[in-house]
Amino acid sequence: MPDGQHEYETDESFRHDVVEALTSDHRRISSKHLYDARGASLFEEICELPEYYPTRTEVGILRAYLPEIAKVLGVGVRVLEYGSGASVKTRLLLDHLESPLVYHPMDISRQQLAETALKLGRDYPELDVEPLHGDFNAQVEISSAARGDAPLVAFFPGSTLGNLDPDDANNLLRRTRSLVGDRGGFLLGLDLVKEVSVMEEAYADSAGVTAAFNLNLLDRMVAELGAVLDRGAFRFESSWSDVQSAIESRIVATRSTVIELDGRTHPFAAGDFIHTENSRKFDLDRFLADATTLGFPRSKVWTDDAGWFAVILLQTS
Ligand code: AVI
Repeated sequence: MPDGQHEYETDESFRHDVVEALTSDHRRISSKHLYDARGASLFEEICELPEYYPTRTEVGILRAYLPEIAKVLGVGVRVLEYGSGASVKTRLLLDHLESPLVYHPMDISRQQLAETALKLGRDYPELDVEPLHGDFNAQVEISSAARGDAPLVAFFPGSTLGNLDPDDANNLLRRTRSLVGDRGGFLLGLDLVKEVSVMEEAYADSAGVTAAFNLNLLDRMVAELGAVLDRGAFRFESSWSDVQSAIESRIVATRSTVIELDGRTHPFAAGDFIHTENSRKFDLDRFLADATTLGFPRSKVWTDDAGWFAVILLQTS
């Protein structure tokens, strides 16, 4: 490789989405790109932050009610986890299920998927671990041989459904309904609407980890796409939107600056931003009504005492 040139390794969808964002009027990058190796590790740090209540609240609900949840799910189920990551909550679930047969972790990171599959296979020798590489925003294919006869339970903890646009979230529910069939279910965690200050503080931690998690997108642009930019000219910002019922996250230019990519210069005036994520918060009754119209007419709900977070089992019959 000639001096002064670098080899940039990236998944092409990142390049495509960055170019599209920089050239559009409303600059927006899918939050799935926050999770490269560094982003995934920063997200694990976020989950431990005092301000970030969702993880510990959901884990508290799971610890308290998993014996009951596991009874409802029954014996010998297959579990498919969307965006399995490090599969921490999965272990809680698997520890309580009676004789689960198969676990399908699904993730866009091949490396994390391989590591998770290896560790879980070692720790749960009776369990058949069958990883599925891919994006849960697309159709999930499980071969009929792999499907077998056991009921399928889709597992989607962490309120990650709230990072999808409402249409995409509805499509995921529809696809899951057809995937799990008449005997399966969809177990998911949802963060509920609460006092605005509590929600806003969860995305504005004093240690600056959430800021680093979002600004890492700029580092990815430089390292993987060869972009030229002044990182010091950007800061992270997040705020509650009543209209979206979401915390909106942005990378904002603090002064006039540019991002150069592939020979093009993309100007930013002070205050111009790239939208990086929506973290939608749910109204439980409205969500359950929507789920009914999407093919899940029955449900069971477990919450914490304050009603901040819900673990929901959507059932098909
Ligand atoms: C993964 N997801 C549900 C997190 C959330 O709360 O939206 C991602 C996150 N972004 C900033 N902090 C946490």
